[in-house]
Amino acid sequence: MRPTVLRRATRKRLVSALGTALLCGAGLAAPASAANSVPGTDSVPAANPAAVTNPVPVVNPETAATPAAGSPQADRQAAPHAPGDGLALTPPMGFNNWNSTGCGPEFNEEMVKGIADIFVEKGLKDAGYEYVNLDDCWAEPQRDGDGKLVPHHERFPSGIKAVADYVHDKGLKLGIYTSAGTHTCNNSPGMPGALGHEESDARQFADWGVDYLKYDNCNNQGVPARERYETMRAALEKTGRDIVYSICEWGENKPWEWAAGVGHLWRTTGDIADNWGSMLGIMKQNLPLAPYAGPGHWNDPDMLEVGNGGMTDTEYRTHFSMWSVMAAPLLIGSDLREADGATLEILGNKEVVAVDQDALGKQGEVVSQDGGRWVVSKEMADGSRAVALFNETGQEQSIATTATEAGLPQADSYDVRDLWKHQDSTSTGEISATVPAHGTVLVRVGPAE
Ligand code: GLA
Repeated sequence: MRPTVLRRATRKRLVSALGTALLCGAGLAAPASAANSVPGTDSVPAANPAAVTNPVPVVNPETAATPAAGSPQADRQAAPHAPGDGLALTPPMGFNNWNSTGCGPEFNEEMVKGIADIFVEKGLKDAGYEYVNLDDCWAEPQRDGDGKLVPHHERFPSGIKAVADYVHDKGLKLGIYTSAGTHTCNNSPGMPGALGHEESDARQFADWGVDYLKYDNCNNQGVPARERYETMRAALEKTGRDIVYSICEWGENKPWEWAAGVGHLWRTTGDIADNWGSMLGIMKQNLPLAPYAGPGHWNDPDMLEVGNGGMTDTEYRTHFSMWSVMAAPLLIGSDLREADGATLEILGNKEVVAVDQDALGKQGEVVSQDGGRWVVSKEMADGSRAVALFNETGQEQSIATTATEAGLPQADSYDVRDLWKHQDSTSTGEISATVPAHGTVLVRVGPAE
């Protein structure tokens, strides 16, 4: 179930609560680690550290709203297959084990079933989380005598079909992983890839009841990416099953330029790691790609790290706010069986999720960026804007914009809703806040009714 779009409040409200808004839990923590490595992964480039300081081109959201002829947006609108097969009309939401377990022993069917249980029990299913996805190492390293994939005997003794049935019984969906290569990315010992086995593997996934495939890029033998990803797309189509198709080639071949109509989402960067520098670098790489995202075809800046312990709650709120403003897939990457209250509160914030899941499917655009003070605005289906005031710096900052700069029409008064404080205010046009170090104030703004 998807959350409904936030209803804009209609009451008259007191002015200026926002003007001095402070996010709770302000704090600055040094990144847990400077390394951008992910357990079990040695072959994938991390987010380009240089990108952390690269300026992002500022886009005027008013002009960006109308795609110019020949622009990526116009191409998307003209593409015969957009929005395609009706899948992933909003960014996929769910869970993936990789960021918390890698190929560790705690990745097994008990974990997967436990996550499905928590989705239901803790209201996350109700908030929109749907896919429970298995990453690398779910299979034995060798195929069987018929060339079939074999579920890992220790991790998945009941087999994948049984896990899919369990997840489906809860009204959720199951995702799986393999690589568009001869072997997956993990080498110790990892599992076979699908290159040359596309139809057989896709058939096997469909027979098990798989609803989502993440298709990685390791050991690709130099076969052109587009060819490899289109071959799997055709194999998935041939199964006749609705399978969301996640292209994971780390942005190496600019998939945003060709993958709409091939996959429903494509990674735009190397792997995220659970530290501020990594998250920030990935955000900056993904922000300029806004024109390429839309219903059925999303930029994927990688899975969430919220709750994994390497960032402060303030930083995790920024991570979650910015992923939502960027209409990114929201795949929880922490082991929810150990999640604390703050983690569940962040991931379960329906007002922020509604920004991500908005039916218009626009990725937010940078309005301004000055000295680490960022304003990013996302056009919403009801005519409002979600506006992120994001403080990249290590000191508290005052960040300001106006409703018209954020892309809204001129009006005498605007309703302003703080999506973290859950507070309403009104404004005559100024949108501003005092934002703690590494924090984000996220508001939803529309002309007062
Ligand atoms: C690559 C992907 C990661 C993860 C690992 C698994 O690094 O980018 O998201 O799937 O492989 O080995």
